[in-house]
Amino acid sequence: MKRAASGIIPVIAVDRNISQSLHRQIYDGYRSAIAGGSLRPGQRIPSSRALASEIGVSRFPVLNAYAQLLAEGYLESRVGAGTVVSSLLPDQLTSSGPAKARLASARSGPRPVARRSLYPRRVQASPWLLGWGAFGVGQVACDQFPLHVWSNLVARHCRSLDAQSLHYGNQSGFRALRATIADYLRTARSLRCDAEQVMIVSGSQQALEISARVLLDPGSPVWVEEPGYRLAQDAFVLNGCRLVPVPVDNEGLNVGAGIKRCPLARAAFVTPSHQYPLGVTMSASRRLQLLDWAQDTGSWIIEDDYDSEYRYESMPIASLQGLDANARVIYVGTFSKVLFPSLRLGYVVIPSDLVDSFITVRRAMDLGPPTFYQEVLADFIGEGHFVRHIRRMRVLYRERRSALVNSIHEELGSTVKILGGEAGMHLTVTLPKGKRDQEITERAARQNLWIRPLSPSYLGRVARPGFILGFGSTAVAEIPRAVRKLRKLLADE
Ligand SMILES: Cc1ncc(COP(=O)(O)O)c(C=O)c1O
Repeated sequence: MKRAASGIIPVIAVDRNISQSLHRQIYDGYRSAIAGGSLRPGQRIPSSRALASEIGVSRFPVLNAYAQLLAEGYLESRVGAGTVVSSLLPDQLTSSGPAKARLASARSGPRPVARRSLYPRRVQASPWLLGWGAFGVGQVACDQFPLHVWSNLVARHCRSLDAQSLHYGNQSGFRALRATIADYLRTARSLRCDAEQVMIVSGSQQALEISARVLLDPGSPVWVEEPGYRLAQDAFVLNGCRLVPVPVDNEGLNVGAGIKRCPLARAAFVTPSHQYPLGVTMSASRRLQLLDWAQDTGSWIIEDDYDSEYRYESMPIASLQGLDANARVIYVGTFSKVLFPSLRLGYVVIPSDLVDSFITVRRAMDLGPPTFYQEVLADFIGEGHFVRHIRRMRVLYRERRSALVNSIHEELGSTVKILGGEAGMHLTVTLPKGKRDQEITERAARQNLWIRPLSPSYLGRVARPGFILGFGSTAVAEIPRAVRKLRKLLADE
């Protein structure tokens, strides 16, 4: 027989020293919890035995109080679910005056928050960040993920769970996964690292947050690419740093322009393998210039290598970290693109002398990553599924990318210019001056096209209009129709 789950025990104060009966006190406690909204319609209430034991009374007063609440319609019995708060409570009961008044008074005094948390988000709640479908940026081909393999590994790990697995894990992450990642990065991305330098994080975003806290002080200037990745900028701004936009040209970040603008920046944030959003690969000479600058000025470089596994026209480009003889690069990677984003696992490769500082900051945040999926992932990589998956996805994304490039040429011709289609899972098209990319994207979202506008990626006033088009989750057959819709939207502008 299925057992009804027990409800959460509400805070019911009973006082044996007052004249009011225990059952009345319990009844009043429930009634005011329901009226005040701390117990909601449909919510399960605890068994009489559980409540009696929790508040230290016999079951009789609890049973009496429950009987009265049932009789008056505050509670109802549901087959298989036990007793729940009635779903048909009159409105005047649940939105009672006193509860509203309490809420209002709680909001009336000064409510100071840190100034940096008021930093305005220009693209907050924009539709293109929310939808799933054609051209969604950051969306991977989830339907192609080998779920059966993953599920088998999950089941295997579930079966082998024991008391030891429930303890706190290593603050830097599961040792075997860190070793596997270090092997992968040394071989596939030419990094100079060992497992001790690898910290597992909940996606690159956490790596950026920890890096900012370790390396930067309030007011520290940080070079960021212009245009660039807004979520990285948010991590720096919310740590009190000053953003210094440095233009990106066809060789990547213009280091000379950065030196002119702010020679002593504390750090530079770069996406050298596949610049976000323009898709440029940083040239060898710019890489060396950037590393020299960092060494000369004692600055740090944060390298975000978010999708470099996917290159279509050439071999993957080696990392900047691998060129760095002076341990000035903090390397950030993620499984959001190569596996799937809800996994929330990524890694940061830390210069050896900074490892302890990263651990100190990380400990203050969350004491370390959850162990379970790290173990599953270590096996997924160790048993060869990871490399196999990347190989398959490279073929699939190459087809999608070609279909998109061809459709753009056919439908949009010379109206737009394609940038950065050699790698990753998105490309960017720029529009003639004067086109309003944000307005077009809002209209596109209404037609289930989740293109992202280019102009909000700029910090300065001079912003090129354009779109960032994801092709990771867009099937080849869907692409021509979606591009035709886009042509129509552009023509209507
Ligand atoms: C430039 C860049 N870095 C990193 C990421 C991935 O972030 P996370 O690992 O937090 O999912 C993205 C995702 O779209 C990105 O565009």
